[in-house]
Amino acid sequence: MKIRTSYAVAGLLACVVGASGWLVGRLPAFALAAEPAGRPVTFQPPPDSAIPQGKFGDMVRLGERIFREPATYAPQFVGNQLRCSNCHLQAGRQAGAAPMWAAYTAYPAYRSKNGHVNSFEERLQGCFRYSMNGKPPPLGDTVLVALETYSYFLAKGLPTGEDAPGRSFPTLPKPQLPADYARGAQVYVQSCASCHGPQGQGQSSGGKVVFPPLWGPQSFNWGAGMTSIKSAAEFIRANMPLGLGGTLSVQQAWDVATYMDSQVRPQDPRFTGDVEQTRKKFHNTPFSMYGQTVNGAVLGDPTATPPDGTVPVAATAAPVQQAD
Ligand code: HEC
Ligand code: HEC
Repeated sequence: MKIRTSYAVAGLLACVVGASGWLVGRLPAFALAAEPAGRPVTFQPPPDSAIPQGKFGDMVRLGERIFREPATYAPQFVGNQLRCSNCHLQAGRQAGAAPMWAAYTAYPAYRSKNGHVNSFEERLQGCFRYSMNGKPPPLGDTVLVALETYSYFLAKGLPTGEDAPGRSFPTLPKPQLPADYARGAQVYVQSCASCHGPQGQGQSSGGKVVFPPLWGPQSFNWGAGMTSIKSAAEFIRANMPLGLGGTLSVQQAWDVATYMDSQVRPQDPRFTGDVEQTRKKFHNTPFSMYGQTVNGAVLGDPTATPPDGTVPVAATAAPVQQAD
């Protein structure tokens, strides 16, 4: 499918309707935008128009630019075709899509992932290393300062030390039936492939990625939070298909998350050299498919797994390109 549209979401949806008709009868899509279940979200982050003039405002604006277009504004740290805003929707403003305002007030915090108290900057580093399949910017680097300044700006007036309603993704009940790859494949074809492509590779137009890749060498790596079937199911149920959050059943969300997280993607940067050992150390949960055998192949097998941290490639190239 050829996509001829700007990155504007309205344009994307209009285009998809025109191209395949799958949304017909379900419009208006935006009336159905994600409404996270659970505690009511009352906090509103300030709009861009509230960014002040001067050096502080300049840093907020830089942070938002990096957040929306990391491959352009922080290419030396980005190893895939994703943007922060592909997962943290509305450039980190959307409740129920791990918004930056709720994240900002939640740090410093202990994380079992690395066994110590993390500053907000260190938490940002993690998303570069894993979700962006890149390299963590050094502490104090302008990229981290800008992203922290932007997040601080968004969190204006929000109390620290409390878990803000809207943080992270809305929790999802367990599925009635065990989550299933084959059912997930069907959901994928029906509800996702029109945008993310039949192979999960995403789609681009005029050299710009308009629908981000869900797996393959240009997506998040095996260390990323989205490789947890639970996190992915929660994100998908609340936010996907884009503009139709909350329309998949709980079962469908678990099934399609299982399908998505059973595909080939870049290696876990913590890979010890041995898949079984890496699974034991970092993926010892029923929600990770790393090291499991799917369709006859072991996920994470180094002979069939793209490398992690492919930053030199992205950094020396012009802003991300992908064949149409
Ligand atoms: C592939 C999707 C994806 C991309 C791309 C991504 N993240 Fe994340 N990010 C996540 C997930 C999943 C979590 C964990 C959310 C949770 O469980 O609360 C997370 C968590 C975070 C958190 C902590 C949130 C909290 O409430 O504790 C911050 C901060 C963050 N990301 C920043 C970034 C930045 C900055 C970028 C771009 C450099 C980025 N992320 C790119 C998926 C992504
Ligand atoms: C109408 C087009 C459309 C459909 C259909 C759609 N998505 Fe998305 N999806 C997007 C766009 C666009 C983004 C990035 C949003 C942004 O940048 O604001 C996205 C982001 C994502 C992300 C986070 C980024 C990444 O690449 O990992 C995941 C995961 C995801 N979608 C999964 C799904 C799943 C699963 C389905 C089917 C249930 C689905 N999407 C259906 C358009 C769509």
